Amino acid sequence: ELKGNTLIVVLGASGDLAKKKTFPALFGLYRNGFLPNDIKIVGYARTKMDHEEYIKRVKSYIKTPIKEMEEQLGQFVGLCSYISGQYDQDEPFIHLRKHMEELEGDREERNRVFYMALPPSVFISVSEHLKRNCYPEKGITRLIVEKPFGKDLSSSRKLQKALEPIWKEDELFRIDHYLGKEMVKNILVLRFGNEFFGATWNRNHIHNVQISFKEPFGTEGRGGYFDEFGIIRDVMQNHLLQVLTLLAMERPMSFSAEDIRDEKVRVLRACPAVEPKNVIIGQYKKSLDGSKPGYKDDDTVPEDSRCPTFCAMACFIKNERWDGVPFILKAGKALNEQKTEIRIQFRDVTSGIFKDIPRNELVIRVQPNESVYIKMNSKQPGLSMNTVVTELDLTYRRRFSDLKIPEAYESLILDALKGDHSNFVRDDELDASWRIFTPLLHYLDEHEEITPMEYPYGSRGPLVLDEFTASYGYRFSDPK
Ligand code: BG6
Repeated sequence: ELKGNTLIVVLGASGDLAKKKTFPALFGLYRNGFLPNDIKIVGYARTKMDHEEYIKRVKSYIKTPIKEMEEQLGQFVGLCSYISGQYDQDEPFIHLRKHMEELEGDREERNRVFYMALPPSVFISVSEHLKRNCYPEKGITRLIVEKPFGKDLSSSRKLQKALEPIWKEDELFRIDHYLGKEMVKNILVLRFGNEFFGATWNRNHIHNVQISFKEPFGTEGRGGYFDEFGIIRDVMQNHLLQVLTLLAMERPMSFSAEDIRDEKVRVLRACPAVEPKNVIIGQYKKSLDGSKPGYKDDDTVPEDSRCPTFCAMACFIKNERWDGVPFILKAGKALNEQKTEIRIQFRDVTSGIFKDIPRNELVIRVQPNESVYIKMNSKQPGLSMNTVVTELDLTYRRRFSDLKIPEAYESLILDALKGDHSNFVRDDELDASWRIFTPLLHYLDEHEEITPMEYPYGSRGPLVLDEFTASYGYRFSDPK
């Protein structure tokens, strides 16, 4: 449960993540009554600023509060304070400890949650300083960390090895924010709470699965970071693979964190490394009307960059449930729309009475416009026996009046405060996921002759995409 007397320390409090996600999420939780009233939030970063400046800054992170929220925002910033300091020196961390102790008073139990909204280059040094100077003798300590967790299996292991002596696994909360999304959390309920899905959830009934991630903007300003990682490391090895895992895992014994994560690891281990022959990569160029820049027009991107901003790949799972079923992952930046969705295409019905009748599809729209719908065949109303594709449609906006979907970060920060690891990535899970992608990543890095296919900013991706998905047996019906 949620511990009272908790202090949250946001390290990197003046950075992009803190601004865009951490503080808005903390305020969202506070506003809705999910944070204890006595919570204190300490920011730590290198930027020197006084209390007033800092409070002004925190206020600016919280977007356009409506009138009623202003009072709450005033109370929220009353809980906030700031310490500036380097990430590699003892002294400012001693200062941080003294500041925390002042806030905590003389109580014995000190519960401290450290949120590292920091680049990975300082993970280890900050961890060491926190351990040495800010680790309470009595109480609960938790550390929330953000990707990237390395660039491949060996660098991820190296990072884990370095953190291992500092933090116990149950103190670590590795964020994959897709695990905090409402529709991603819904996957287990849809699968295991509905007999008609559960019963057909296997290779006998499902022909192929597609998980797509589309963004209508390029790397705008993040080219420097992105070029080092590329789309596969940025969203596929983590976000999309997590979705695949939840779709494919066996029923956990319970909803406990360890039962869920045991099953996730088991299915990942049944997933062989992705083979380069099952992969296409792309990189965006200028939009057709010339108004949007190409990837390489970004000054921070090298002119000869081969970095993929688009990728489609087929993964397979070698177990009884899934053998032979392609799981197609697709991800791209600078495409024609914003959409993350899961599309499960069922097998053809037994031939005979129907000719070429479309397949059933179950679509889970993760974002935007959260919904679940099933494409199914029905008799065209009237005197003929013609069939028509219709939908059983659960669009959240329509179904749930007063719909309020929490931000992924709100959900995850609350889980971390409560000590619930279910939606965080365990160390062996991280290893298993890197093992699936590392050979492909090395292959692409080493083979200089492999260049990404170009696609215009604002398009659906490289032209061969439809051919690629069709080659795994995906059958197109009218898009909804
Ligand atoms: C981040 C990636 O992890 O996820 C970004 O680094 C990406 O490149 C983002 O844009 C997508 O998150 P969301 O929640 O907007 O779908």
